[in-house]
Amino acid sequence: FAGIPLLEGLPEDAAAQAAPRCRWKTFEAHELIVDYGDESNDVLFIISGQVRVLMSSAYGRHVILNHLDKGDFFGEMSAIDGRSRSASVIALYNSEICVMPGEVFMEIATSVPLIARRTLEKLTERVRTINERLAEQAFLTARQRLCAELLRQSRPRSGHPGQRIVSPPPIQEDLANLISSRREVVSRELSALTKDGVMERSRGGLILTDVDELSRRVEEAM
Ligand code: CMP
Repeated sequence: FAGIPLLEGLPEDAAAQAAPRCRWKTFEAHELIVDYGDESNDVLFIISGQVRVLMSSAYGRHVILNHLDKGDFFGEMSAIDGRSRSASVIALYNSEICVMPGEVFMEIATSVPLIARRTLEKLTERVRTINERLAEQAFLTARQRLCAELLRQSRPRSGHPGQRIVSPPPIQEDLANLISSRREVVSRELSALTKDGVMERSRGGLILTDVDELSRRVEEAM
């Protein structure tokens, strides 16, 4: 199970029993991996690529719940509670996925406390993120929500202490979706941030040059 942090430290005999029951599959960009409401219960581990977790309205609108990267997993909710899929998941890029039957995942989670613990930590992290977004929608303006979202998606920029980068460059429509706003608003606010010298656009991504100022803008009204 190389490339799956959740399963690191899985005893060798347990790994040897589980591996033949898993399948390794490649999904193409835009391919549907999990469909909302399906009765499947596989747990899926992202070996490479990136996926989007979303829900759709009956009228074809979408809300993005999250993006998950290499090393992450999804599908654990149906494996844990036996209910239908709580969201849809599509591949954003070609993605290599390890598909583990829900029963195998639950056998591992109930017999290896370290793995149960890591699963709980991941679920807790997701609840925290959802709570943050919900509070932001109640308390912040779209402008502030954008700053908060950029900070959340960013990671330290190597070789540039104090700076952070959102890479690959986010799609404006996606940012708008994530902060419950419109693309035109995101476009306008990104331009304003660039003009204010808080952010720079580069081919590799959005560079957050003044992280303190971005944080200050988020906290202004909280
Ligand atoms: P499951 O309900 O089995 O299928 C859809 C999966 O999407 C779900 O399990 C989770 O793994 C994942 N998922 C649902 N909501 C979120 C969220 N807010 N953040 C990250 N992943 C999620």
